[in-house]
Amino acid sequence: MEKIWSKTKIGNMELSHRLAMAPMTRSRAQEDGTPGELAALYYAQRATMGLLITEGTQPSDDGQGYLWSPGIYTDKHIKGWKKVTDAVHEAGGYVYIQLMHAGRMSHPDNTPHHRQPVAPSAIAPGVEMFTATGMQDIPVPRELSQEDIQTTISDFRKAAAAAIKAGADGVEIHGANGYLINQFLGENSNTRTDEYGGSIENRVRFAIEVTKAIVEEIGAERTGFRISPGTPLGGIQDGEQGPQLYRYLVKELAQLDLAYLHVMHLGDENLLQDIRSIWQNPLLVNRAGTLDDLSVDLDRGLADVVPVGVWSLANPDLVERLQQGAPLNEADPTTFFGLGSKGYTDYPTLEELKSQEGLH
Ligand SMILES: Cc1cc2nc3c(=O)[nH]c(=O)nc-3n(C[C@H](O)[C@H](O)[C@H](O)COP(=O)(O)O)c2cc1C
Repeated sequence: MEKIWSKTKIGNMELSHRLAMAPMTRSRAQEDGTPGELAALYYAQRATMGLLITEGTQPSDDGQGYLWSPGIYTDKHIKGWKKVTDAVHEAGGYVYIQLMHAGRMSHPDNTPHHRQPVAPSAIAPGVEMFTATGMQDIPVPRELSQEDIQTTISDFRKAAAAAIKAGADGVEIHGANGYLINQFLGENSNTRTDEYGGSIENRVRFAIEVTKAIVEEIGAERTGFRISPGTPLGGIQDGEQGPQLYRYLVKELAQLDLAYLHVMHLGDENLLQDIRSIWQNPLLVNRAGTLDDLSVDLDRGLADVVPVGVWSLANPDLVERLQQGAPLNEADPTTFFGLGSKGYTDYPTLEELKSQEGLH
């Protein structure tokens, strides 16, 4: 456990410990994609996590998948995010905005323009999605033309610039969990026959072009990238070539000298070892596991920083509680998405619990 509490550096950030807050969609933004009124408070409450990676944030109308997810492509979005970044900085934390283009993981009822979702190929993910009228099948997406691909890369670039304008310390490119970039990587979601499909090199091309554009725009030291090898979310199958594809992707990304690589790790230990040896810069490893597992990857030298999701959602003072060995609040999954302050900004800190007890 010792290593968790040691200092480290990521990009321009001096972190006082090795935990971070994992990105989590909370679906509480305003109708137009501006972060909700409580977002600044929610993130600032968790500032002792050091590096906060925000909820997935769309770079364009096309990029929205879920209801009430925030965007970062209008002046109003920038103003809304500025409140968040100011509040986090004031509370002593750092914040990276996660750029998430949902691609085919979307529904016309959920987007501002109500258009058919877009993807590398016209293949539906075969899953349902929550909409204002309940769960609905996700429709077959429209295949992106080569021109659309260039526009999408440019949207990512502009969104990264907007994030920096909004005061973010950097951006994390969401290449994981079944969304657009992951759809290009997947064997069963990308059947293109041009230079963006087919071979490993071709399926990785979009991820690299997006990353290069963002690096050019805001600098490598402010750019992170998230992958989730072997994760079947959103109907994605990596196929037999999966581990090989991820080794190639990580090698290509390594040449760009990014602030960090973030692996959502589901258990291919050999692949994680390989990634560690290819990737010389800071490596973030998030594994959905028990608290006892928190430091395993740090202690084995496989991770430099450990992002934590659900426990940081439910415990604004997670760092203090872990340091003191104090009991933790349990998360309430019924309030993960939507609603207001309930299950968002009302999880008590230890101090608050103590003073509540004192009142009784
Ligand atoms: C409510 C919720 C929302 C999530 N939204 C995102 C997201 O927007 N982007 C992302 O990359 N991962 C997202 N995840 C995955 C988490 O970042 C994390 O990988 C996962 O919860 C496992 O880690 P944990 O056990 O520490 O929570 C989400 C998870 C949860 C529980």
